[in-house]
Amino acid sequence: MRHLVSVDDLSLDEIREIFERAKTFSSDLGAWSHLCPGLISASLFYEPSTRTRLSFESAMQRLGGGVLTAAEMGTSSASKGESLADTVRVVTGYADLIVLRHQSEGAARLAVQYSGVPVINAGDGSHEHPTQTLCDLYTLWIERGRIEGLDVLIAGDLRYSRTIHSFVFALARFGANIVCVPHRGLELPPYVVQRLREEYGAEPMRADVSRLGKLAAESDVAYLTPQKPHQLSLFTDAKGMRVDHVDAVYMTRPQTERHGEGANVERYLQLGQSSLEAESLRDAVVMHPLPRRDEISSELDTDPRGIYFKQASRGVPLRMAILAALLGRQPFSARPSDAAPRLYPVRVGENPCPNTTCISRTEERHVTPTFRVTDRYPLRAVCGYCSQELPIRLVGCSTTRHFHSRESATARKIRPDHLVFFRDEEHAAALGFSAATR
Ligand code: NCD
Repeated sequence: MRHLVSVDDLSLDEIREIFERAKTFSSDLGAWSHLCPGLISASLFYEPSTRTRLSFESAMQRLGGGVLTAAEMGTSSASKGESLADTVRVVTGYADLIVLRHQSEGAARLAVQYSGVPVINAGDGSHEHPTQTLCDLYTLWIERGRIEGLDVLIAGDLRYSRTIHSFVFALARFGANIVCVPHRGLELPPYVVQRLREEYGAEPMRADVSRLGKLAAESDVAYLTPQKPHQLSLFTDAKGMRVDHVDAVYMTRPQTERHGEGANVERYLQLGQSSLEAESLRDAVVMHPLPRRDEISSELDTDPRGIYFKQASRGVPLRMAILAALLGRQPFSARPSDAAPRLYPVRVGENPCPNTTCISRTEERHVTPTFRVTDRYPLRAVCGYCSQELPIRLVGCSTTRHFHSRESATARKIRPDHLVFFRDEEHAAALGFSAATR
């Protein structure tokens, strides 16, 4: 059984296969009702949605299937204190697939553990939104004919936009270059940048934005490229990587519902004709996952570069392709991803995840915290649910019952399934671990 929790769950060839199928579906959306008759998808939405839920439901009905909707989970048993795990176990008996949106990072990963049917992540907190990303990549593929080598500028709230996080991972994997124009204080989160560097070889560097005009005037712009340094030497100098041409501008709204206190969104970038008049942006398509507020002015609605409504409408054929594949009616023929990260359970001590909105913290009853090792020199690990880095100082080995500093040579050699994380020496001692003798 296949799930779609992260865009990394799909290989690049599978993603290309989805695009081809979506294109075929889009030629006549009404011609595919023979594909999924008798099958039911359940929409479990704990957060508001218009496009994602309706396009999934439209897609399922276009395929001849039925839909169950729990769109306001406040009116469901969640308001009586039912856990996500229990709800998922129950809904597994009612439907053949679950589309889940939830406010906690890692919720879909948890749902997979309790579901007997495929789970699709339709947004988990500020973490990921893989089907929006597929829709965005599909739009680039249709508009530009390729993704490899494109220069894609992402702007706005890069910190809390889950659509951005899934998008940059996929862009880097496809070999596209990313120009980051964040609102001040809403830059890409460190765990995302780290992963881009470590797993996709995309090195962030300074950008020379003199050719971007007003668009980048008030921002600390960064350029991320998966290209090798020798390929870049032609375009870089002391001012940084020169951005001469942009293929797409991807705008995001401020995700104020996740900001808490402190984020200041005054003077948020507003895209209009004047911010796009630089020569380098002359034929850039303007994308947005929607909903927009004021960050794209309506004058771009009639500008041929503004394609955000087209982008939204492509969600239906794209999601038809995803549903048909995961429901087994059109299984993938391309090679699956072999990049699936190995997760290990945290067996000893408390949950080391520092993120208070991670599902491993908000739903402790049903969660065994997990982690993934991302580096060994020095040892680094991230939460298996929300991907945030674990603040490790000391680690132990569950077989020797010794603890070591994270930087030590011994720490590097501990098998991940024997690793134990400690806050400090006292914590280690309380759990029965002693300092290594050498
Ligand atoms: C996005 C989301 O929910 O993350 N919307 C969507 O699914 N199209 C973007 C947003 O809310 O800003």
